[in-house]
Amino acid sequence: VVLLVGAAAVWFATNSVRRTPPAAGTVDFAAPLPVPELAPSRVEDGVRVFDLSAQEGTTAFVPQGETATLGYNGSYLGPTLVAARGERVRVDTVNGLSDPTTVHWHGMHLPAAMDGGPHSPIAPGASWHPEWVIDQPAATLWYHPHLHGRTREQVDAGLAGMFLVRDDEEAALALPRDYGVDDIPLIVQDRAFNPDGSFAGGIGMQFDGVLGDTILVNGVIAPHLEVTTERVRLRLLNGSSARMYDFAFADGREFDLIATDGGLLEAPVPSESIPLSPGERAEIVVTMTPGEQVALRSAAPDPDLHAGSATFDVLELRAAESLGDSPEVPAHLTELPTPDAIAAAPERSFEMSGHEINDREMDLGRADFTATVDTSEVWTVRNDNPLPHSFHVHDTQFRVLSVDGEVPPARLAGYKDTIALEWNREYRLLVRFEDYADASTPYMYHCHLLWHEDQGMMGQFLVVEPGQQPDLTRPEGDSD
Ligand code: C2O
Ligand code: CU
Ligand code: CU
Repeated sequence: VVLLVGAAAVWFATNSVRRTPPAAGTVDFAAPLPVPELAPSRVEDGVRVFDLSAQEGTTAFVPQGETATLGYNGSYLGPTLVAARGERVRVDTVNGLSDPTTVHWHGMHLPAAMDGGPHSPIAPGASWHPEWVIDQPAATLWYHPHLHGRTREQVDAGLAGMFLVRDDEEAALALPRDYGVDDIPLIVQDRAFNPDGSFAGGIGMQFDGVLGDTILVNGVIAPHLEVTTERVRLRLLNGSSARMYDFAFADGREFDLIATDGGLLEAPVPSESIPLSPGERAEIVVTMTPGEQVALRSAAPDPDLHAGSATFDVLELRAAESLGDSPEVPAHLTELPTPDAIAAAPERSFEMSGHEINDREMDLGRADFTATVDTSEVWTVRNDNPLPHSFHVHDTQFRVLSVDGEVPPARLAGYKDTIALEWNREYRLLVRFEDYADASTPYMYHCHLLWHEDQGMMGQFLVVEPGQQPDLTRPEGDSD
């Protein structure tokens, strides 16, 4: 076994072309951080309506030339959608691309037909009008395409944005919440550029997808953020297709981790770093002193989680000479139900290896299993590969029951929809499906390294009423 792993590691190292960002401390953070604009919305017959249009364009990232990019309502990334728990929302979505696309609401609890997975392609020039009621705790969610086999290509070209859910409970807490002032979304991505300024898309795709040497935050290389308040809330999204990050501050200062993928933790977790695999989010609150500057960096991630082992800079926080007061972070944030596996019905296991889950590649025409609405299940997930993988489930926010039989670390104690899988460890998840049954439209589960997902490291499941027969329909235009 040792020999085989060693051989695999050598093969991996010699075949996988990777680029590493410049070492920490060598960038000047010249550009101001742009904050994605808030998506305008209107209320029609009690429905909050947003307009989202996928577009082709060009973006100036590097001096050597403009880069062909995709964006929503612009040339790169998209606006931040904000809606409150209890609201009915509709997103009037237009595909202005020359290719089909989909829009998936990552982390959202909603009917499968609104989920925007590979069964909901939008043809070039066509539109799509998903509508649902927001019914989940305040959280930092996001949206991105999910076109079968082409997710990495479209996300890497720039199609991604944030979707913030608000609720009364979170609103009652003394937390920074002034969007763009003391509450800042950070979409972190790595990219590689060709000499003419175009994206170098094919670099290092043999195993993991793109590992770029240039870190973008909200679409800008090495920016700085002018901080004007004593505390600032950063909503971190790993929007990269393959790179793992371990975010920390250059001086090692402690910050409060207050929320993960699906919302608030019970109490802030004092932390010096927070690892995020592609698709995961974390909300942190950091305290600044007047006039200081400190870089947000990514430290070397756990080698089992891979990838570009250097420590590199992401963003610099620059505090004004005089800072507005911020309240202390509350000691208690929310109440989470104790995850209880006892009442959960089926147990399922998922072995992640190569580009397969349980030795199968994704098939749009096959439901891998059927779950019953309003029930819970216990899923055991394992990464059988010395390669980085993660596990993401649509429609639901799960709880981590254990990691290798042990109580999970505090950062994994809240609601999650995506989890990094360290090699050869066993993750037991309590997964619940509520409200929405649909015998013909499936939800997805997959590795969120997008190249792996595109290669087939994905499966689909139906959520049905008790006793209802599954009747999976293929998306239109899918023939194989
Ligand atoms: Cu973020 Cu199935 O996706
Ligand atoms: Cu998702
Ligand atoms: Cu993977």
